[in-house]
Amino acid sequence: MDRYVVFGNPIGHSKSPMIHKLFAEQTGQQLDYSTLLAPLDDFVGCATVFFQEGCGANVTVPFKEDAYRLANRLTDRARLAGAVNTLSKLADGSLLGDNTDGAGLVRDLTVNAGFSLTGKRILLLGAGGAVRGALEPLLAERPASVIIANRTVDKAERLAELFGDLGPVSASGFDWLREPVDVIINATSASLTGDVPPIVASLIEPGQTLCYDMMYGKEPTAFCRWASEHGAAVSMDGLGMLAEQAAEAFFLWRGVRPDTAPVLAELRRQLAL
Ligand code: ATR
Repeated sequence: MDRYVVFGNPIGHSKSPMIHKLFAEQTGQQLDYSTLLAPLDDFVGCATVFFQEGCGANVTVPFKEDAYRLANRLTDRARLAGAVNTLSKLADGSLLGDNTDGAGLVRDLTVNAGFSLTGKRILLLGAGGAVRGALEPLLAERPASVIIANRTVDKAERLAELFGDLGPVSASGFDWLREPVDVIINATSASLTGDVPPIVASLIEPGQTLCYDMMYGKEPTAFCRWASEHGAAVSMDGLGMLAEQAAEAFFLWRGVRPDTAPVLAELRRQLAL
């Protein structure tokens, strides 16, 4: 049977095996998908052994940059992201590195939430790997502007410079911003500690602005609660992005696009248990 894994460390709580099992059942594909705990100091050795037999892999924290270096070829979006979350073994045995995270975010916003990003003012909070992975797919939707705001402003400036050729992108500190935007995407890790980045509520146009947290949990995240309290039209967490990045990887490997709706419903149900 065709073998797939998700590499990470830690990896025990990954939802990817369940997601891909449901995708495989739904599409009638025969495959085996499991977790693979790679040692922190030897991702390359572990991946090389796996790919002697294995067909493809997802890659999560902390190995996305290692996977980027391991890949023999990269998709454009992976090259721009500087990180790989999906590896696919090609017919000649070489490894193609892709990054489906940003595409998953865009699909969750545009398809699942039915929210067009074209002509919109987008504010991205954070300037780490999650923002870097999201920038090219977001700019491809032709927004009016993308502002990257970060605690460490020079990291935001570096990203704005790196992506400047692809669209209207600029950098900012959190406390420089006052004017409402159409979309606020939280890609900081502040939610992990229950914090909200220090931005003013006037950035939300009540009843208009969509707020999105890349994190998710059993309860609404601190950022989603903050957004709802200040009148955001929509406040979404990142569970849909998780399902969509997986669907994009499944499509790359199998050439079939699964329907994410029932899988997302099952993920939501299990999260609530
Ligand atoms: P990821 O790969 O998930 O993006 P990362 O590269 O470690 O993770 O980036 C984490 C991001 O969250 C950074 O933008 C970080 O800000 P700094 O660049 O200033 O460190 C941001 N961040 C983490 N904790 C935060 C907090 N409590 N408030 C605001 N921003 C925070």
